[in-house]
Amino acid sequence: MNLKQSWRNQLWPLRIMRIWLGVTWIYAGFDKASDPGFLKAGSSTFIGTQLSAFSVNSPIGLIFNKLIENSTQVGIFIMLAEFSIGAATLLWIAPTWAAFGGFAMSLTLWLASTWNVKPYFLASNSAYTILWLSYFLFLYGSRRRSKVSLDRRGFIRGSTVAAIAIAGAGLGRVFPKSVPGASSGPKNIIKDAVVKVGQTHNFVSKAGTPAVLFRTKNGIFAYSAVCTHQGCTVQFNSAAENLQCPCHGAVFDPFNEAKVVTGPTNTALPKIKVATEGAWIVEA
Ligand code: FES
Repeated sequence: MNLKQSWRNQLWPLRIMRIWLGVTWIYAGFDKASDPGFLKAGSSTFIGTQLSAFSVNSPIGLIFNKLIENSTQVGIFIMLAEFSIGAATLLWIAPTWAAFGGFAMSLTLWLASTWNVKPYFLASNSAYTILWLSYFLFLYGSRRRSKVSLDRRGFIRGSTVAAIAIAGAGLGRVFPKSVPGASSGPKNIIKDAVVKVGQTHNFVSKAGTPAVLFRTKNGIFAYSAVCTHQGCTVQFNSAAENLQCPCHGAVFDPFNEAKVVTGPTNTALPKIKVATEGAWIVEA
């Protein structure tokens, strides 16, 4: 069945499903491609930071823990897969495989990032999983499978999807999103009176990366919370009085210039310039 027939032969409920899923998946790919921080270690939207959060909160966290080592490759794969699934769905290229890919991806995202959302129906990934599953089962059941074969037509169709995915990713790089919070002037972090001696405060730096502020009896100071090993987010452990990375166990001493205490890196956490200005603590 060609593209025109595929649209003509589908009932309206399926057309709506197909348009919504196809467009959403292409948009999701473009959103990642146009995000300057998605493949940049240290950014708050870095795929490695997301994988590290998944490794702690997901029931299949062990898998994500293994993937952190290859965060950039995983990010590129996800981005191209989203473009490919969206384009293949809209253009009727291996539509059953595309629908299965969409289902597998939604299910993984559900388990990864929104498994703990209560009630479950507030997590959009649960709805996408069921939507893709229904669409896949319909295509499978009505025997409209379109296998990717190595004949000339199959090769051309497969190449079309690959070309769209690569072009989409390239387009996202050409038109990057603006980075929220990036500015040259001082940025308010928190009201001075809120942070007492002995307390810490997590915040997002002007560069859009996670950071942590300390107040001791000697004053205030802050560090980037981006691990200098592979970009996971470190957390302050108040019992041990150090900053710990959940990914590969690096430990930093915030009371000694954030130098490395142990772990697979030799680089201290970068310092962030903070000061009090009126009633606020600001990042200079
Ligand atoms: S990312 Fe490996 S120890 Fe932090």
